[in-house]
Amino acid sequence: MRKREIDIRDYAGDIIRALRPGILITTKVGDKVNSMTIGWGTLGVIWERPVFVAYVRQQRYTREMLDQCREFTINVPVGDFPRRALGVCGSKSGRDMDKISAAGLTPVEPEVIGVPGLKEFPLTLECRVLYRQEQESEQFNDEITRQFYTIETGDHICYYGEIVAAYIIED
Ligand SMILES: Cc1cc2nc3c(=O)[nH]c(=O)nc-3n(C[C@H](O)[C@H](O)[C@H](O)COP(=O)(O)O)c2cc1C
Repeated sequence: MRKREIDIRDYAGDIIRALRPGILITTKVGDKVNSMTIGWGTLGVIWERPVFVAYVRQQRYTREMLDQCREFTINVPVGDFPRRALGVCGSKSGRDMDKISAAGLTPVEPEVIGVPGLKEFPLTLECRVLYRQEQESEQFNDEITRQFYTIETGDHICYYGEIVAAYIIED
């Protein structure tokens, strides 16, 4: 499958706009590939590197996988895409099922890291975790605590991924 390399600065607006209604983050441990829908993400520059920061709640299977593999791809739709995949990957856990097959997603061989991209979500950022940060609940503004956090929900963990390859998968 052909990949067209992109300059992420040309696509920053598209990526940020796509966060609502959702994009995917994909991880791989052993033979298991799992994608989860995310609506939060930060694209920018830190430590002189292009970085995508993903915010993953403690209890997600994706969090367990990220802590093992320390790599992920960000998968952004371009044009028409199977919206149902965002529902499946945003409501079911990879702990209980193979979401890649259930959502009808096709893994595509990566360029640099070990985690595949997804044909149906072709704008791909291959990321290597540079830094993992657990949010400290006592540091939140009260408004944010009230709106987003209870004991049951757990806090988010921030994964700062260096973008080591960026491209659009083409047929
Ligand atoms: C639109 C949308 C956005 C979401 N954004 C996030 C997010 O940014 N971080 C997060 O931890 N969970 C987010 N979720 C929830 C996860 O996608 C959901 O809990 C998923 O089933 C976890 O999958 P996993 O257990 O296989 O990791 C979102 C769900 C939806 C539907």
